[in-house]
Amino acid sequence: ELGAYDHYMLKEIYDQPRALAATFHACDNLLRDDSCFGDGAAAIFDRVNNVQIAACGTSYHAGMVARYWLEELAGIACEVEVASEFRYRKRVQHEGTLLLTISQSGETADTLAALRNAGEHEFVGTMVIANVDNSSLVRESDLVFLTRAGAEIGVASTKAFTTQLVALLMLTIALGRRRGMSPEKQQEVINALQRLPDFVEETLELDTNIQQLSEAFIPKHHALFLGRGIQYPIAMEGSLKLKEISYIHAEAYPAGELKHGPLALVDDDMPVVAVAPGDELLEKLKSNLEEVRSRGGELFVFADRAAGFSSEPRVKVLNMPHCPEVIKPIVYTVALQLLSYHVAVQKGTDVDKPRNLAKSVTVE
Ligand code: M6R
Repeated sequence: ELGAYDHYMLKEIYDQPRALAATFHACDNLLRDDSCFGDGAAAIFDRVNNVQIAACGTSYHAGMVARYWLEELAGIACEVEVASEFRYRKRVQHEGTLLLTISQSGETADTLAALRNAGEHEFVGTMVIANVDNSSLVRESDLVFLTRAGAEIGVASTKAFTTQLVALLMLTIALGRRRGMSPEKQQEVINALQRLPDFVEETLELDTNIQQLSEAFIPKHHALFLGRGIQYPIAMEGSLKLKEISYIHAEAYPAGELKHGPLALVDDDMPVVAVAPGDELLEKLKSNLEEVRSRGGELFVFADRAAGFSSEPRVKVLNMPHCPEVIKPIVYTVALQLLSYHVAVQKGTDVDKPRNLAKSVTVE
């Protein structure tokens, strides 16, 4: 089953162009038709004013990305919370809220509990984005969108995450259409989604370069991931992948927070990964790093090749494909997946079955 690949994780990373295209093609006509989100989707979507997302782990990160899309493109207020907190918290519920759960397995105990508690509140409907048909979340939600990732065997979620993002961007169009998102903007997002598999292919071609970068992480015990805006949740996802499979302690911060504490940690044992920084941010990061340069801090920058950044002492740049902003979170994720994969392989960990973790967390 593994074919030419050493691990399921790598196979699943490389399966992404197919999985993303298949997920996108699940909807025939996003500009007009909501039926791919389940029977009765149109009637529920017409009443949605807010979206409340509950999910765990990597699926929670997908929800965090979606918040940027829903608020910025669709003009819909969105809140995102880890399901284990959401289920126990006394909350104030806005009117017209759609409860959206996101789960690869469809069986995660906390996410399922969040859905099952929904009855206590007035939601306009419940929806799940899941990868496993006939799972509990699928059976118990009003609306269902199934990602077409195919079976994901590696414990580290890869193609499930990126296909969730495609689903969430398509949902943004469906809801945005009702909130004044222009047909041109909708079409622009659709065009970007159509080209997404090619950009992911291009990113996969950088594998050898990423492997080279990864070597610097092998002797490290800590790493810091920085992102800004919609790339902040991608930095979180990058850091989760690294800690999950390589057992290196990693933390993610919004880039603006660096000076408010974590900068004190930067020394030669703390590589800093910057995800898609623009010009201005990179300059700021470099000057921050300058302050700790004498202590050996090293910056790894994943940036659009059109931005023209080049490596210099203590700053290593990976030139990423030049792609539309809206799909950058998906494309950059792939590079970070490969980074953790190579670190883990070189450290000799059990990549597909990291210690202490289960693929599906069906107990609290
Ligand atoms: O099946 P789910 O998407 O509900 O699982 C949620 C998390 O347990 C899962 O994403 C976990 O964080 C991954 N192993 C991370 O790679």
